[in-house]
Amino acid sequence: MKTIQIAIDGHSSCGKSTLAKSLAAHLGFLYIDTGAMYRAITLYALRNNIIVDGGAPDEDLLRKHIYNIEVSFKRMPDGTMHTLLNNEDVEKNIRTVEISRNVSAISAVAFVREVMVDLQRKLSENSSVVMDGRDIGTVVFPNADLKIFVTASPEVRAQRRYKELIAKGDNVSYQEVFDSLVKRDKIDTTREASPLRMADDAVLVDNSEMTIEGQFQHVLNLVQNLAAYKQLT
Ligand code: DC
Repeated sequence: MKTIQIAIDGHSSCGKSTLAKSLAAHLGFLYIDTGAMYRAITLYALRNNIIVDGGAPDEDLLRKHIYNIEVSFKRMPDGTMHTLLNNEDVEKNIRTVEISRNVSAISAVAFVREVMVDLQRKLSENSSVVMDGRDIGTVVFPNADLKIFVTASPEVRAQRRYKELIAKGDNVSYQEVFDSLVKRDKIDTTREASPLRMADDAVLVDNSEMTIEGQFQHVLNLVQNLAAYKQLT
């Protein structure tokens, strides 16, 4: 059976996951949040002293552990997906400022990426999928049916993220959030292994001035106009 792959890449905190989740739910496709997978490995690395907060990972130690780290997803009764680390539900633990601060260093390690990319392809075998991340259109699914590259200005992204963290009760300042985001952009776009870049055939969506609903409708139209989607429905 023909399946459809939709790749959604873009900068940190630009609303990729919100878009990808709602699109997948609307289309009845599988949703895979690849950032969550790198976050889960980062949590494991922090817990096992493979990385000390703010430092560089001990790559030899990480290599020894990599096949003991099992990342998976579980669909909850309300339809949302939770991330599991060696079968422990870590969905909340991976969304902290500490994880955000350290995840770029872990996701820059080439062998971590290789293992994750294999897993991402395997998890979505035989299913239509919406996958979000940084290298989905460039590395994971270079032949995806639709590639979207989402962005927004750093100020808009930092403001959105700051509001989210404050609402969760995290004690952070706007400046801290802004600085961490700019730093993360820099690491993500300049690392050697699969740097974040827009695929040549991706559609750019700058949502600085868009509502969540407006963005969703815009991308849904793109999906509905795909010849492959018309064949599927
Ligand atoms: O989307 P996110 O903020 O949850 O992603 C967390 C980090 O993981 C981000 O700093 C970049 C990295 N990442 C990556 O390198 N490749 C992916 N496919 C997804 C995320």
